[in-house]
Amino acid sequence: KRHLISAADLTRDDAVLILDTAEEMARVADRPIKKLPTLRGRTVVNLFFEDSTRTRISFEAAAKRLSADVINFSAKGSSVSKGESLKDTALTLEAMGADAVVIRHHDSGAPHRLATSGWIGGSVVNAGDGTHEHPTQALLDAFTMRRRLGEGVGSDLSGRRITVVGDILHSRVARSNVHLLTTLGAEVTLVAPPTLVPIGVQQWPCEVSYDLDAVLAKSDAVMMLRVQRERMNAAFFPTEREYARRYGLDGERMARMPEHAIVMHPGPMNRGMEITAEVADSPRCTAVEQVTNGVSIRMAVLYLLLGGNEPALTAGTGTST
Ligand code: CP
Repeated sequence: KRHLISAADLTRDDAVLILDTAEEMARVADRPIKKLPTLRGRTVVNLFFEDSTRTRISFEAAAKRLSADVINFSAKGSSVSKGESLKDTALTLEAMGADAVVIRHHDSGAPHRLATSGWIGGSVVNAGDGTHEHPTQALLDAFTMRRRLGEGVGSDLSGRRITVVGDILHSRVARSNVHLLTTLGAEVTLVAPPTLVPIGVQQWPCEVSYDLDAVLAKSDAVMMLRVQRERMNAAFFPTEREYARRYGLDGERMARMPEHAIVMHPGPMNRGMEITAEVADSPRCTAVEQVTNGVSIRMAVLYLLLGGNEPALTAGTGTST
């Protein structure tokens, strides 16, 4: 494949290959020199039209660990603020020789447009588009589940029960996770207030519940989502106290989860709303581990899109630099 736009485009074998390659990439982080020569001479552009902490930094770290040259572009402070279009921005990057463009955009569909427009010749990686998809987030979430739930290299998440809780309506993370986790054999249940469930969710390959307490005891992983106030009309904001009471995860609710079950959050968190500080800081919460795993996943994605066909750790000269 040349691009990564949607988790729905990945087969089970594609997804397992990315997770297995990420396991190899994770071993690089344990070395004294955390670098491979694999993408030396290649250029990765991080094209961010929307704010990001984790995704932007981890794509940069991933590209650098593979020895690629990295150009970071942020719409704020660029000629986008003078009205320059996505097309002209893309043509400018193409003129600088981008081998891969990692794009985050507020418009759903912008990465697809970039990949199919012919404006650029390199690979396009979706780093989150509007309320549509965030495929590398779903991959790092699946990687974290596979590790924490004790599934080995080569395996999928068959039979695992994953609950995704919160603002599903605005969540590209939820949509990508539903696609990827079901492809990997997991059973997914979405839990949200009725006003934060997307129209058409009946066509998604998952269950929908409005009762968090009813599903906690049968979950292997519970993924809490941020309430995305910036995408809501202020009139539709749920009150913090009411939302936390019905859909927030606190210590008492966490205690009802099976002993082996984990709590996940893609970040950024609204502490006190969808998750209490007690849960966020508990050893059962994988939020920080998810960030670490994100670097390995993004190394794997860049390597598989731009790199060779050799095993990751022997590609290039086979030595770390
Ligand atoms: N999880 C996630 O996409 O975080 P950022 O918005 O900080 O990149």
